[in-house]
Amino acid sequence: MATTIITKEQWAESERFIAKLKEDNARFAIKNGRTRLAHTETYGCQQNVNDTERIRGMLSEAGFEFTDDAENADFVIYNTCAVRENAEQKVFGRLGILKHLKETHPDLIVAVCGCMVQQEHICEKIRKVHNHVDLIFGTHALYRMPELLYRTMQEKKTVVDITDSDGSISEDIPILRDKEEKAWVSIMYGCNNFCTYCIVPYVRGRERSRKPQDIINEIKELVAGGTTEISLLGQNVNSYGKDLDIDIDFADLLRIVNDIEGVKRIRFMTSHPKDLSDKLIYTMRDCDKICKQLHLPLQSGSDKILKEMNRHYTKEQYIAIVDKVKKEIPEITLTTDIIVGFPTETTEDFEETLKVLEYVRYDSIFSFIYSRREGTPASKLDFVLSDDEIHKNFDRMLQVQNQICLEKNLEYKDRIEEVLVDGVSKTDKNMLSGRTDGGKIVNFTGDESLKGKYVKIKITNPKQWSLEGELI
Ligand code: SAH
Ligand code: SF4
Ligand code: F3S
Repeated sequence: MATTIITKEQWAESERFIAKLKEDNARFAIKNGRTRLAHTETYGCQQNVNDTERIRGMLSEAGFEFTDDAENADFVIYNTCAVRENAEQKVFGRLGILKHLKETHPDLIVAVCGCMVQQEHICEKIRKVHNHVDLIFGTHALYRMPELLYRTMQEKKTVVDITDSDGSISEDIPILRDKEEKAWVSIMYGCNNFCTYCIVPYVRGRERSRKPQDIINEIKELVAGGTTEISLLGQNVNSYGKDLDIDIDFADLLRIVNDIEGVKRIRFMTSHPKDLSDKLIYTMRDCDKICKQLHLPLQSGSDKILKEMNRHYTKEQYIAIVDKVKKEIPEITLTTDIIVGFPTETTEDFEETLKVLEYVRYDSIFSFIYSRREGTPASKLDFVLSDDEIHKNFDRMLQVQNQICLEKNLEYKDRIEEVLVDGVSKTDKNMLSGRTDGGKIVNFTGDESLKGKYVKIKITNPKQWSLEGELI
């Protein structure tokens, strides 16, 4: 499917509303002696984090300032995730709290956007149960936010825009990022894979790749601002370029990024195993800036379940990829996603997954209990295992993996690692924290001024979830 780029005219229309909002905000400031404040909250994946940066970019141009505290805000916006039920529950919980806030702050404007509200039944539920929400818009309407917000403020009635489109990319939306040494750059949007458990293709639309030049320009701008680590982002980066008119694939894009001066580290997420090419493995091996880290979601180790999940690979094919990656890049750090309790999964199927964990020995895993998503094919299947059995399997898997994590980390004892310093550790305020090339967390003592710098650390005390070391 061809990629629709938001036309200059469409974006010009949004800019017209940014200007109107700006005028309105200026009038507000004169009348009230303060600037209007916006509060943004993001749920879900990096894709959403990236969208919120665009929302903040547009709000900033429209004259808003920001507050971390919803209670002080004039405009609160939740950018939501639909991937599992608990992500949605969190947002419903927050909306409940806002109802009380709105009673004491009647002028507060509340907006909900993103993946969750792209589903019609959720949108309906919000309108019924949380009628204090003023504005609802889906992932396809992001660029229209200025107009929608302006209408909400003028018309004083609920504005909803969850129209679907065949996909659109706007290269013009301003981005407001915190200045950091690390940045995420979207290289494509949407997903074509329709794994039977997953809601993402329904709420994000089909795959659309950004043009390489737009990606390069964004990275160059980031580097000029001091960023050195770039993470390329897409639901399945391995199919990058398939929808473009030019002949380029993900490995080619990686090489181009590898050549950009000032970039020191390149990471990417997510790689679907069915599309992982030998060319990509060789590119990772040969390009010095590409971190030797691969996130390769397995989901299940049972061929029967993989088929029912519509994953398009077998356990054997998956293991063959892992073997090849380990052979070409022996220092590779491997991570994965696993779903436990897919409806038709039996304990024998689950044990096949455990076998893969024991064979691959991942550095870490992200494990999820299956969550039924309305409208997906798997939602119609009956469960074989009880909730209790599923939870027991889940705990068993964590035990197996915890032991592997510890053993893998112990291999790092006395090694010297280059670490990009993130800043003060979240768990111990007396320590700094950063990540190795392979993405492992390293804690060490040092001066805060090292934030954003690359330092050499000797690992002295490997732990289950992180490494401890000393500056050398
Ligand atoms: N595009 C990425 C993943 C996006 S969602 C990929 O294909 O790898 C991130 C993870 O959430 C998935 O890998 C999967 O493990 C998990 N997930 C998706 N839908 C889920 C569901 N209905 N229940 C539980 N976990 C789910
Ligand atoms: Fe969901 Fe599968 Fe697409 Fe990942 S590849 S976003 S799991 S449908
Ligand atoms: Fe991401 Fe959640 Fe949407 S995982 S793409 S924010 S459904």
